[in-house]
Amino acid sequence: MAAACSPKPQSLAIDSSFTMACVNLKNKTVLITGGARRLGKAIALAMAQAGATIAFTYATSANEAKQTLKEIERSGVQGLSLKCDLRDEKSIRQMVSQTLEHFRTLDLLINNAGVFQTAKLEEITAEQWDQVFAVNVRAPFLVSKYCIPALRKGRGKIINLGSLGGEKPWSTHAHYCSSKAGLHMLTQVMAKGLAPEIAVNCVAPGMIDAGGADRYPELLQRVAEQTPMKKAGIPEDVVSAVMYFATAPHFITGQVLTVDGGLGLR
Ligand SMILES: NC(=O)c1ccc[n+]([C@@H]2O[C@H](COP(=O)([O-])OP(=O)(O)OC[C@H]3O[C@@H](n4cnc5c(N)ncnc54)[C@H](OP(=O)(O)O)[C@@H]3O)[C@@H](O)[C@H]2O)c1
Repeated sequence: MAAACSPKPQSLAIDSSFTMACVNLKNKTVLITGGARRLGKAIALAMAQAGATIAFTYATSANEAKQTLKEIERSGVQGLSLKCDLRDEKSIRQMVSQTLEHFRTLDLLINNAGVFQTAKLEEITAEQWDQVFAVNVRAPFLVSKYCIPALRKGRGKIINLGSLGGEKPWSTHAHYCSSKAGLHMLTQVMAKGLAPEIAVNCVAPGMIDAGGADRYPELLQRVAEQTPMKKAGIPEDVVSAVMYFATAPHFITGQVLTVDGGLGLR
């Protein structure tokens, strides 16, 4: 991805801001689910700065969506924010057709929206199980399904946001881990089924400090101590991996890339 850049490194240390500055997504149209805040917002803004036109969805974060849209447009690219309940197929279908009516083409779909819940195995209700699966696996399937014709035309890409929890059995997150494992498998099935026109990959974060009032500060601290790299990840770590797949050759497909500071090696 850095091939077109002329690197002028100050030292031998890897500078990710330099790498990011080299990404060129001009003339690309991107759809990101759950893009109003946290990791989705970081991905949306980085792609806007790389020159892409950005459509993103939100569900409850209407104010954050307005702010994110402003920041996207400040990068000099077009943006579009769309309210969508990803548990509802009709809402998904409308959202995808509004995106295509507005921008006409689609090069990149990022299935970022997700639900994370902590609950003891025996206390998870059937309703909680279904809600987590609806957002974390069914929605990426349905959004992808409605985007396939446009993505095929443009030889596009799909990037799913999975989780280290899709690879490791976290006992207080049975529904979350099972749903993310499903998403990792869906990535592989779609990669095979949508080749050769569409490349499909997955970024699976470990524990990421997404900033603001994090909902799990103690968990974040505890996991950081257990992580070989001795810290939680930051949004830029995830953005960097997403940018890699966004700009990688089509030959790279069906991959799940964990971004976890080595936590999964334990
Ligand atoms: N942060 C981490 O440490 C971490 C670790 C592993 C994996 N991940 C994965 O990376 C992705 C982004 O992480 P994050 O922490 O930024 O996620 P997040 O804040 O938990 O959720 C991202 C967005 O999902 C949207 N969403 C939830 N339910 C929805 C629904 N029914 N319909 C439409 N949108 C819905 C929310 O939109 P609104 O705010 O508009 O309601 C939210 O902003 C997720 O898939 C997550 O599972 C994150």
